[in-house]
Amino acid sequence: MLRSKIGGIGYYVPEKVVTNDDLTKVMDTSDEWIKERTGIEERRYGIKHKETTSTMGARAAEIAIERAGIQKEEVDFIIFATLSPDYYFPGSGVLLQRELGITKTEIGALDIRNQCSGFIYGLSIADQFVRTGMYKNVLLVGAEMHSMGLDFTTRGRNVTVIFGDGAGAVVVQPTEEENQGILTTKLHSDGTYAEKLAFINPGSHGGYHSKHTGEEVDYGYSDAEYGDIFLNQHMLDNAQIFPNMEGQFVFKLAVQKFPEVIMEALSEAGLEKKDIDMMVPHQANLRISAFVQRQLGLRDDQVWNNIQKYGNTTAASIPIALCEAVEAGAVKRGDLVCLAAFGSGFTWGSALIRW
Ligand code: COA
Repeated sequence: MLRSKIGGIGYYVPEKVVTNDDLTKVMDTSDEWIKERTGIEERRYGIKHKETTSTMGARAAEIAIERAGIQKEEVDFIIFATLSPDYYFPGSGVLLQRELGITKTEIGALDIRNQCSGFIYGLSIADQFVRTGMYKNVLLVGAEMHSMGLDFTTRGRNVTVIFGDGAGAVVVQPTEEENQGILTTKLHSDGTYAEKLAFINPGSHGGYHSKHTGEEVDYGYSDAEYGDIFLNQHMLDNAQIFPNMEGQFVFKLAVQKFPEVIMEALSEAGLEKKDIDMMVPHQANLRISAFVQRQLGLRDDQVWNNIQKYGNTTAASIPIALCEAVEAGAVKRGDLVCLAAFGSGFTWGSALIRW
């Protein structure tokens, strides 16, 4: 049976390290609070005017392409997952294509918006394209430059301290080997609580969703027939252009959905918890990872965590962590690797890979 496998993997994190103590210089927070609640010690920030989400993605992609043993011109489809794109539109996929210098190949480029589960969604899409024989070298990139869009005042501290910049990439290729490749991917969503973790302006909502949230917010719209819905001065003046998150609400659902979606994948693949060799969870919070680890009965060396160094890099977190685990020799040929993520939407998913 034709399956897909991860044929090459790479990651890139910007050089600039920002510690918790660095953040205390611009907002009322502390190293102790951040470490205790999240496990994060430091994160990386891209260099303004020099790096972007797509350029960081391209650096990770170059490594993944080389390790996949192909030329970049042989990539036949691009999937780009991010919530912090270079532009509102066009998506970052075409910018990555340009940065890689492969515009002449005129391959398709797809942007996906599934936040923290963006990489798993992308992997599932890549898997389908490869299994059907449509493409042979799908380049999947997850990249974020959060540092350009966060509120660096005390008002935004609950969100800002968590996020960091970085990129990860894989090349998904066909394999006919009996015991190798992506065994299954599971994807889910529930939009009921879409605004609990969201970045809603600029957007076309015009306050419409208050009927779902029950929360009327003054966005400063005028009575003009057209315009000023998407973005206006009031939103800028009132800090309505930053992400917002109800942390405890997100936490409670995350610890429920992570184990659920992993068990679903194991059951479909006819496997059990004890069969997992390495778990690479989306790096949302060390406490969430520890909870999932306990639920699955895994040892410390069977769960790859790097949130301490990079914070939450959203769509990039799984490929960065997976790449580190592979480079460290913690994932070997034949190992059962489990990926899982939960995030804004809410969307969540899992993947089981026989490495
Ligand atoms: N530094 C210091 N104090 C902070 C702070 C910060 N960076 N951020 C918030 N606080 C304060 C709050 O204002 C609050 O103060 P109060 O008690 O005086 O009102 C207090 O700390 C507790 O805030 P709370 O939000 O209840 O903390 P928490 O224990 O829930 O931890 C998170 C916050 C965000 C770390 C935690 O909820 C979490 O990780 N949730 C999941 C988030 C997540 O995974 N998001 C990504 C999804 S992929």
